[in-house]
Amino acid sequence: MGLPSFLKLKLHLFLVCLLNVLTISSTELTKEEAVLFGGNFPALYVIGDSLVDPGNNNYLLTVVRANFPPYGSNFEGGKATGRFSDGKTIADYIAMYYGLPLAPAYMGLTRRQKNNISTGINYASASCGIFPESGKKLGICLSMSVQVDLFNRTIDKNLKKNFKTQSELSSHLAKSLFLTVIGVNDYAFSYNKTTQDANEFANRLLHEYLIQIERLHKLGARKFFVNNIKPLGCYPNIIVKTVPRGSCDHELNLAITIFNDKLRASLSEMHHRLFNTSFLYSDYFNFMLELRGPSSNRASSNLLNTTSPCCPEAYDGGLTTATCLPVSSVCKEPDRYIFFDPRHPTQIANFMYAIRCFQERKICHVVKNSTRLV
Ligand SMILES: *[C@@H]1O[C@H](CO)[C@@H](O)[C@H](O)[C@H]1NC(C)=O
Ligand SMILES: *[C@@H]1O[C@H](CO)[C@@H](O)[C@H](O)[C@H]1NC(C)=O
Ligand SMILES: *[C@@H]1O[C@H](CO)[C@@H](O)[C@H](O)[C@H]1NC(C)=O
Ligand SMILES: *[C@@H]1O[C@H](CO)[C@@H](O)[C@H](O)[C@H]1NC(C)=O
Ligand SMILES: *[C@@H]1O[C@H](CO)[C@@H](O)[C@H](O)[C@H]1NC(C)=O
Ligand SMILES: *[C@@H]1O[C@H](CO)[C@@H](O)[C@H](O)[C@H]1NC(C)=O
Repeated sequence: MGLPSFLKLKLHLFLVCLLNVLTISSTELTKEEAVLFGGNFPALYVIGDSLVDPGNNNYLLTVVRANFPPYGSNFEGGKATGRFSDGKTIADYIAMYYGLPLAPAYMGLTRRQKNNISTGINYASASCGIFPESGKKLGICLSMSVQVDLFNRTIDKNLKKNFKTQSELSSHLAKSLFLTVIGVNDYAFSYNKTTQDANEFANRLLHEYLIQIERLHKLGARKFFVNNIKPLGCYPNIIVKTVPRGSCDHELNLAITIFNDKLRASLSEMHHRLFNTSFLYSDYFNFMLELRGPSSNRASSNLLNTTSPCCPEAYDGGLTTATCLPVSSVCKEPDRYIFFDPRHPTQIANFMYAIRCFQERKICHVVKNSTRLV
């Protein structure tokens, strides 16, 4: 499936930009920006949900899986790996940008493979979230604290074998990048806007999130790439139920914004408090909102269907069409949609994320010290 020509041009510019990263960083960026945008990370470790799950759920007792066609139709060799998209996820594009192999699913690795990987592992699990109970009604999944437990286990059982001394291991961990993309399932499954206070919910969720970030820090992580929570209120599975039909659930988006604002402030506070710790904050929320918006991005909204999923093609929000199934009818050109299924973006949207983050630097920013402590 060919890319539209304007995207081919973008891809070309993107690659040229990659080659120029070092030049750019020595001229325009602060030292911290040069490190976080310039890369040179030995490994990428991923903590997340279905936006970045590369197939961990294939090995868990759950119906929330994507290891069958039409998922993966645009992935390397058209393989349905378990990624919830037609192709690559943002974790894949982030790995590629930094010149690393795509981080493999932890659950799919043999003991021997685990012992021999020092370029990163992905622990992300679809349907799970930050609260241990979020998404569990749908089946087994790995919540954020379990993912951090597994990373702890990786250090103890596997990584220690790869490094001769404790200080070499510590240096590896301190130089590695820790990507987090998690939290939307807490809003999807644990938040009820009619019975819960948005501010109180955000505080509780953030508290749990920061505990896990601090645990990663305690284990040796020093470089974080933190994505905020997506605008769930504008996703096909929500807008199919709104009145008027097709409009965003602004109340839900506002609740998520409250969390996102607190998250950003907390990272700034942590950056100030923790030595040698840097955060790249990515505004995934506004990225998706702008991609969807008609006025802000005319070129893409003329070319892309920004409201309906590619699969199932006729989406009515009913139970049988809640996700993309092996029997679902699929659009012919996923590259012309921003949503592949009702809850997940297409590869082209994920690719655009990489452009906005790394090339244009519109959505990704190095977190600076806070002027005001929270
Ligand atoms: C370890 O990984 C490297 C590179 O991926 C590979 O060449 C090598 O054969 C692997 N070794 C073992 C023992 O699996
Ligand atoms: C939220 O709670 C109200 C009142 O208990 C209930 O009627 C409604 O169905 C709940 N909504 C969801 C999405 O669970
Ligand atoms: C990591 O695992 C070890 C051994 O099981 C445990 O003692 C330690 O508290 C764990 N660290 C974190 C941050 O969870
Ligand atoms: C930011 O905080 C660090 C301590 O974490 C401090 O060393 C540094 O000087 C501060 N920078 C600014 C610009 O305040
Ligand atoms: C910060 O990092 C530098 C260089 O990596 C190291 O020498 C120093 O000990 C670290 N400081 C702390 C407080 O960890
Ligand atoms: C998006 O796709 C859906 C289903 O394929 C179609 O009904 C809808 O008209 C399309 N919207 C636009 C703006 O093209």
